Amino acid sequence: MSESRIIDMKRINKGYMLGTEKVPVLKNVDFRVEKGEFVAILGPSGSGKTTLMNIIGCMDVADNAGDRAQAEA
Ligand SMILES: Nc1ncnc2c1ncn2[C@@H]1O[C@H](COP(=O)(O)OP(=O)(O)O)[C@@H](O)[C@H]1O
Ligand SMILES: [Mg+2]
Repeated sequence: MSESRIIDMKRINKGYMLGTEKVPVLKNVDFRVEKGEFVAILGPSGSGKTTLMNIIGCMDVADNAGDRAQAEA
């Protein structure tokens, strides 16, 4: 990971269970932020902005957390 890259997420997947079904929200999302960069996350309501922010802030975990080595392969 580059020193100036303060957030570097690859192929983030996250869904929520709705009854017995898993509803996908984030599907293979890549997200990188460089030091000093000013970033806005835009999208319609329900598109997964809060879900992504919760994962960035470690308030929640991606379904495929821990797969980094696999993601980089
Ligand atoms: N805790 C949760 N349990 C089940 N579904 C959720 C939960 N949080 C969000 N969702 C669903 O995931 C989708 C994305 O929601 P969210 O990340 O809040 O989007 P945004 O912040 O862009 O409005 C929506 O369909 C929402 O209903
Ligand atoms: Mg939101």
